[in-house]
Amino acid sequence: MFLREHWYVAALASELSERPIARTILGEPVALYRNERGRVVALADQCPHRGYPLSLGTVVDDVLVCGYHGFTYDCEGLCVAVPGQDRIPTKLSVRTYRVLEKGCWLWIWMGRGDPDESGLPDTPWLEDSTNWSVVSGVAKIEAAFSLLVDNLLDLSHETFLHNSSIGTPEVASTPIDVEVDDASRIVNVYRHMASVECPPFYATTTGLSGSIDRWQDIEYFPPGFYKLNSRIAPVAQPPLPDGTDDHAFHLKIFYGLTPSTETSVYDFWALSRDFCVGDVAIDVALEKMQVSVVQEDVDALNIIQQRVNSGREMTEVSVKIDRGGLAARHMLAQMGEDELTHPPHLTA
Ligand code: FES
Ligand SMILES: [Fe+2]
Repeated sequence: MFLREHWYVAALASELSERPIARTILGEPVALYRNERGRVVALADQCPHRGYPLSLGTVVDDVLVCGYHGFTYDCEGLCVAVPGQDRIPTKLSVRTYRVLEKGCWLWIWMGRGDPDESGLPDTPWLEDSTNWSVVSGVAKIEAAFSLLVDNLLDLSHETFLHNSSIGTPEVASTPIDVEVDDASRIVNVYRHMASVECPPFYATTTGLSGSIDRWQDIEYFPPGFYKLNSRIAPVAQPPLPDGTDDHAFHLKIFYGLTPSTETSVYDFWALSRDFCVGDVAIDVALEKMQVSVVQEDVDALNIIQQRVNSGREMTEVSVKIDRGGLAARHMLAQMGEDELTHPPHLTA
């Protein structure tokens, strides 16, 4: 089952234009476009007339014209024109979804209940272009959402799967600490590496060389939002007690995990840094590295899912590095039970 009463990332803001795009989110086809005034609209991607995808239609001024027989829908999903007749079938409409644009991401509310804007993740690092530079992208993985959760909650895989870029030996060899905040529904996984090798990307962008302190602090907000706080600093120079951390370099790596179907998931990513801000060459280098890292994850998860699909018996043996992933599974299962036992408040 999908956890519905939540916000998910539906698209990159840069993907949206007057040409609609199609997404399948939690099994539901959704058409997304930006109207002439810049407002983003999300509609069920199926024309009620004969079922043609509305994402294949055309945006004209403020309305979307179905590409099959021209039924026309406004931004509220209401049919406002039917070719060849004046009368429009009463209340002919398609479902609309609440969407909110924040920085480089567009969030969608997939719930049956009222959108809970207080549950929308805080992402100032993606919105403050004065102090943070952001690059973003998306990949579709032909694997279950749960496999992506496992992947992101256990970064020891960097040492092996991403050994040519970000995965130094110390990532896998440094133990993690896991904290679960059941009240706020956050899984934290901490890995603090002291006096370790500086990966090539950080060496070229920060000017640090030789040994560094490298922290990877994960905050996972199930189901769909993940933040990795990466801190790179000269050895033995921790943040000051008041939180000031001027001699360190910070890279925040965000993921929006959006289930598409039972066996596919969108992997939205965004990297936000407080060093080399505004440096386009660094943007390009960082984006190139991240695209290749994400592709390594995509390839790995696709292969595992293919094994699952083949009907092969899949066994699991969990060890210490899996504690974060197991905590996330537990929290997701609990949230699933809660959603079943406490159905959403419906206004309609
Ligand atoms: S299917 Fe859309 S107008 Fe006929
Ligand atoms: Fe990875």
